Amino acid sequence: MTSTSSGRDACVVPVITIDGPTASGKGTIAQRVADHLGWHALDSGALYRLTALAVRQAGGDGGDESQAAQLARRLDAQFSAGVIRLDGRDVTQIIRQEAIGNLASKVAALPAVRAALLARQRDFRRAPGLVADGRDMGTVIFPDAPLKIFLDAAVDVRAERRHKQLRDKGISANLDDLLNDLRLRDARDRDRAHAPLVAAADAVTIDSSHVGVDQVVDQVLDLWRKLGSAHGPA
Ligand code: DC
Repeated sequence: MTSTSSGRDACVVPVITIDGPTASGKGTIAQRVADHLGWHALDSGALYRLTALAVRQAGGDGGDESQAAQLARRLDAQFSAGVIRLDGRDVTQIIRQEAIGNLASKVAALPAVRAALLARQRDFRRAPGLVADGRDMGTVIFPDAPLKIFLDAAVDVRAERRHKQLRDKGISANLDDLLNDLRLRDARDRDRAHAPLVAAADAVTIDSSHVGVDQVVDQVLDLWRKLGSAHGPA
């Protein structure tokens, strides 16, 4: 894939990266921005969640790096119209379970797993553009992205949001447990040696603690438009 620092260059497929901690709303916002622009979307966390599910199905617990990496490399994953399949089976809901999220955070700390998923993530970069969300989209996977967002929100706000999401799905959850889980996952994602959760030096940080989804989507689209006028027409 050819690329330069300006994603609005005619021969380069532009990418907007949205990184941030668990439950910051980045998945929803990335999808909305992608829909608005008519671009593709990459939910990179889903790839780590699928790897976690494959590890669990193989009877593992994420402690065996080469097993997890091999499963990541061979992942038979399909993303189509909001449905995520693993080996042909619809696992859209299963991979959203907190237990899978926790195991995903564990396998995501393994460098061989990250290496196994690298090319697969870059393959999502297709015309007319890509909105990619995760932890290292702007720092490692698409370092040349012309627009990088770091979406943050206070941990207690994120726990409340996750609690509401689960309640709306009819899943009961304890708020204090969710808060503890989020803190643990934040620490693991931020403190790991490989591709830790960190804002890229050239990222724009948006704190969504007290801002609704619509406003954040508008902010991102506004930043993209401004970048377009700075670089000339796409
Ligand atoms: O965004 P998410 O909650 O679906 O991600 C699940 C886990 O995967 C998260 O705890 C960290 C990991 N992850 C990662 O390390 N790098 C990414 N680009 C995306 C997710």
